[in-house]
Amino acid sequence: MNPSHDETVRRRFERDAESFDAIYRVERSWFSRRFNRIFRKAIFERYEITFAEAGDVTDKTVLDVGCGSGVYSADFARRGARRVVGVDFSANMLALAAQEAAAQEVADRCEFRREDFMTSASDESFDISVAMGVFDYLSEPVPFLRKMALQTNAKVIASFPGHSVVRERLRTLRYRLSGKGRVFFYRQADIARIAAEAGLREVRIIPILSSGTGYILVGEGRHGGQ
Ligand SMILES: C[S@@+](CC[C@H](N)C(=O)[O-])C[C@H]1O[C@@H](n2cnc3c(N)ncnc32)[C@H](O)[C@@H]1O
Repeated sequence: MNPSHDETVRRRFERDAESFDAIYRVERSWFSRRFNRIFRKAIFERYEITFAEAGDVTDKTVLDVGCGSGVYSADFARRGARRVVGVDFSANMLALAAQEAAAQEVADRCEFRREDFMTSASDESFDISVAMGVFDYLSEPVPFLRKMALQTNAKVIASFPGHSVVRERLRTLRYRLSGKGRVFFYRQADIARIAAEAGLREVRIIPILSSGTGYILVGEGRHGGQ
């Protein structure tokens, strides 16, 4: 891991917690709703793919790594998950996540932990683990995915931004100019290699068609396996 990069990412999300969460809040102004639906379509598509891949979550346990403002955590609980643990190293994001769980009336089934997932000592295992919009910020994706796989009995689901000529350059430049740190992009072959090195089985890589570049990785975890 790269501690100074991780700290840059953490501070960035402390700062941007509200504006990140606003992407999901469709009750905002007509302009931001249109903007998000057009330019951030991939965020909504990855949400649809994730819940379709997770299937029936009734009575399941879920680990939401980099849970942010808790949109996925609260929705897993609302869809019947018995226990959801959301992990994030941004306190501001976690405050929004707790509000979201309360608003959805699922706070009793959600636990939010402030920690860096990589240094978390917990070895609790879960039926499903997800990491949405997190591998964008990871300088070392293999140990991160391996840790998720080791804590997962069934499905691991994670998003990865793909390379692209225009979007990749614009995002990289925007991040550099605003001090948000580095952002990482992946080819389908990179994701397949990372998944194999992390020990995931039954791997599938689903393109996020609306972004034209991103992917959702789905694989079987290895808790209790080799
Ligand atoms: C783009 S947000 C995505 C939030 C949420 N998963 C979603 O899709 O709505 C990425 C989140 O990952 C968190 N994060 C990144 N690296 C992390 C790490 N090593 N440990 C814990 N949280 C991390 C950030 O603080 C941020 O809240």
